[in-house]
Amino acid sequence: MKQKFYITTPIYYPSGKWHLGTCYTTVVCDALARFKRMQGFDVFYLTGTDEHGQKIEKVAKAAAMPTKEYVDMQVNSLIKIWDLLNISYDKFIRTTDKYHEDAVKKIFQKLFDKGDIYKSEYEGWYCTPCEAFWTKTQLKDGKCPDCGREVELTKESSYFFRLSKYQDRLIELIESNPEFLQPKSRQNEMLNNFLKAGLQDLAVSRTSFKWGIEVPFDSEHIIYVWIDALSNYITALGFMSEDDSLFRKFWPADVHMMGKEIIRFHSIIWPALLMALDVPLPKKVYGHGWLLFGSDKISKSKGNIIDPVILSERYKVDAVRYYLLREVPFGQDGAFTNYTFLSRINSDLCNSLGNLLSRSTAMVEQYFGGVLPQRSEDGEFDGQLIELVNGLFEKVRDNMDKLLVPEALAEIWQVVSRANKYIDETLPWVLSKDAAKRDRLGTVLYNLIETLRIVGTALMPFLPDTAQKILSDIGIKEAPTFEDSMTFGKLKGGETITKAQPLFQRMDINKELAEMDKLAEQLAATKESGKGAEQTKVAAEQEPKDIKPEIAYDDFAKMELRTGEVLSCEKIKRSEKLLKLTVDVAGEKRTIVSGIAKSFSPEEMVGKQVVVVCKLKPAKLCGELSQGMILCTEDEQGNIVLVNAEKKVGTGSVVS
Ligand code: ME8
Ligand code: MG
Repeated sequence: MKQKFYITTPIYYPSGKWHLGTCYTTVVCDALARFKRMQGFDVFYLTGTDEHGQKIEKVAKAAAMPTKEYVDMQVNSLIKIWDLLNISYDKFIRTTDKYHEDAVKKIFQKLFDKGDIYKSEYEGWYCTPCEAFWTKTQLKDGKCPDCGREVELTKESSYFFRLSKYQDRLIELIESNPEFLQPKSRQNEMLNNFLKAGLQDLAVSRTSFKWGIEVPFDSEHIIYVWIDALSNYITALGFMSEDDSLFRKFWPADVHMMGKEIIRFHSIIWPALLMALDVPLPKKVYGHGWLLFGSDKISKSKGNIIDPVILSERYKVDAVRYYLLREVPFGQDGAFTNYTFLSRINSDLCNSLGNLLSRSTAMVEQYFGGVLPQRSEDGEFDGQLIELVNGLFEKVRDNMDKLLVPEALAEIWQVVSRANKYIDETLPWVLSKDAAKRDRLGTVLYNLIETLRIVGTALMPFLPDTAQKILSDIGIKEAPTFEDSMTFGKLKGGETITKAQPLFQRMDINKELAEMDKLAEQLAATKESGKGAEQTKVAAEQEPKDIKPEIAYDDFAKMELRTGEVLSCEKIKRSEKLLKLTVDVAGEKRTIVSGIAKSFSPEEMVGKQVVVVCKLKPAKLCGELSQGMILCTEDEQGNIVLVNAEKKVGTGSVVS
């Protein structure tokens, strides 16, 4: 019997604010799903939309549309994006689907009957204009942290889920089953920040708005949108419906894939709900990093184009897929820039892959009239190429099994590069001049086309259109199955080879960057009217102030932080902010200019211990050369506070 594989993306908010980053989860899951299908697994790939809740109710209101009409419209446009990107999902669930709503009600009822849901009072500070509850610590100067208006101490009756009851089992789950939550860094985050800090019972109903699923036994209450949303992973399979055969076949999920910001819901609330329902837990929850849209430092461009539709139409869908799958280190953040996008197309897709295809097919046409010659004896260089090609399937599979998608692609490009090098080594155009070398020429071209067949096959899960084109250019009509067909030597000779049209258009990067700038300007100019406007706005919203990409330990270790003691300190005349300090760091006197004058007088700084960033390039501030920085933070009133060691230590002590 076929082995099953159940993979899910989160269900998307139908907000219309989709950009390249939002496509990341679906494209990655698509590659994984296609790969498993080609390996012969019985795959179920689920995606969909998360349509309830206050947030959606509000955006619909802002668009002056009835909520259901609004979500219908957005869902249609999302499905179009997935179609464009060749997302091969097996099912698209909408949380407004009746079967889902019915099943969620039954789930809620079951938890209530069991005693895991109870009614109580929710106490918090309520902001009426925002319809939001806040805890005391979340308030900003006693006001709503969102809009700054007055809040009222309010009690709302609410149903609660006994999340606290599952705390120990959840800790046990994450600690004793390291495969459950990946990558590993997310385990400590969940354990230390949430689970070990103590779980509170979770409010799972709301009475302040209507757009949601009613609590079956209390029509005043709407079921909390995350309970509704998380349940999709099982309701989509028919859980608690008349026909739950898919549930019995595919559950538990093999992978729940998602961005790291919603890991907490999936690795704490979701397993607790399943424990309460006595349903087996998913095998893996994977939190990938984000695609970030910072400023494009290299090209100085005016704005990055991050609309997946515009990018796909201009550069081909597979350029977009390739970028997402290759450029973002899996599990970590990656930064999108127009420049890195165009460079990937030029170097990997045009120069490496495109060239290999066009050179190889052109030579078969030129020297053998478009009919693939047969392979005869191996010659110099053949062994190395063939060995690499034969090892490809295993390498791709090992990486995909570990969810290392960029690494899997890198292996394919290793083979592509090797094959290009093989052309330069074997010099077919020289062989073609010598009639005695006709067999050798035939073998060289056979080896190249056979390599292309295997590369084309390996690319099917990642770049389905491109793979198809490569295979059809070398005369293969039917989609091959995987493992078996990735063994070198399957082509027989005699196949019809067509001289290939370029797979991707090579670009003059500087010219194209200028074009992209123009496009970005046009999109920004259509602010009010078009889809483009939304995209540019999202880019700005996405630009994170406090979220930076993860760095490796090695990068952190490049910093040198040491304690120092302030020997003397004076004001800098031309500046209200800056103080000039002389700091002793392990006997060495450094001048440091620091923007702390509004909170510290020069006198009080003398004798203080500070933490100094040592290896910083010296910089001139108000005419004074500063040799380093001292570490500070700010309190809630905006006063500067020195960051320090807990007690006095010798000057020059390493901070690590
Ligand atoms: O969170 N880079 O939906 P959503 C990478 N409805 N991934 C990104 C991204 C970026 N810049 N921006 C968004 C929700 N995503 C809930 C889920 S599941 C029971 C409920 C990813 O529409 C994001 O991380 O905000 C998530 O995986 C997906 O897009 C949908 O996000
Ligand atoms: Mg989100």
